Amino acid sequence: MALHKLAVVLSAVSRVFGASLTQVTNFGENPTKIQMFEYVPDKLTESPAIIVNLHPCGGSATSWFRGTRMPSYADQLGFILIYPGTTNMNNCWDVQSEGSLTHGKGGDALAIVNMVDYALKTYSGDPEHVYVMGSSSGAMMTNVLAGSYPDVFEAGSAYSGVAHACFAGAPSATPMSPNQTCAQGLTHTPEEWAAFVHNSYPGYEGRRTRMQIWHGNSDFLVRPQCAVEALKQWSAVWGETNTKNVTGVPSAAYTQILFGDNGANVMGFFGQGVGHTAPVNEEFTLRFFGLMD
Ligand SMILES: *[C@@H]1O[C@H](CO)[C@@H](O)[C@H](O)[C@H]1NC(C)=O
Ligand SMILES: *[C@@H]1O[C@H](CO)[C@@H](O)[C@H](O)[C@H]1NC(C)=O
Repeated sequence: MALHKLAVVLSAVSRVFGASLTQVTNFGENPTKIQMFEYVPDKLTESPAIIVNLHPCGGSATSWFRGTRMPSYADQLGFILIYPGTTNMNNCWDVQSEGSLTHGKGGDALAIVNMVDYALKTYSGDPEHVYVMGSSSGAMMTNVLAGSYPDVFEAGSAYSGVAHACFAGAPSATPMSPNQTCAQGLTHTPEEWAAFVHNSYPGYEGRRTRMQIWHGNSDFLVRPQCAVEALKQWSAVWGETNTKNVTGVPSAAYTQILFGDNGANVMGFFGQGVGHTAPVNEEFTLRFFGLMD
């Protein structure tokens, strides 16, 4: 078969099986040499939303692509998924570095923001509808990005992570590192946590990132106190207090912790008997992002 005919057949096959996860190498400045993969469904909405989905320590973009049902929701709802990947520090995100903890300074955070910019430009995405989610180290980086780049991310959903800047001053990011202070439940006052966020982007007065925080109460690797601290941080940033708790949402094991007006900006979930990591609830995350009814 002539090569061009083979190409026609192959592209027809890929249409039948739908879009696939594809690596992008030219997305822009990449100081920590991390990878970008994207999943662009065949049918996009006009001006599509973008979700960055971050793998846990030891993971990869390709394994995490299979780790949640987000790709099938992207097919149904027409948004774009970005899957960053790192092979640094046992495949953990650099949530402790000054680069990532400072707006525009560098680190994995800057590279991830450059991936978002690339996708916004390439697919005429909607800059008002950019989201970030992740599990474990990916959840820690979700908090970091929300703190350093509130102008980029409208909302975040963090599964079993820690507050923004919890690892600041630690020699490396992983909870397996010699310094367990953060992962074992480092505490600060809400004002101190909020100051970390404000100091990451001095002078910024724009929109803040809405945050959804998930954690298992039987997590001994990254203690549930870490989620309590993250909620202290984001509720202080938003100036909201804990107004209501609802047990049994989204399932019997969980209690939903709502801040302000029904948790519109800050919301937590704690799972009784849930360990590391809390399973991703795609529907609740997409509803919080406003991408699903
Ligand atoms: C350990 O990490 C915490 C932050 O998580 C930091 O405040 C502290 O300085 C670090 N200690 C050492 C010895 O690196
Ligand atoms: C919600 O639950 C937390 C954790 O148990 C508790 O500290 C807080 O007082 C509760 N808030 C309300 C409004 O009942």
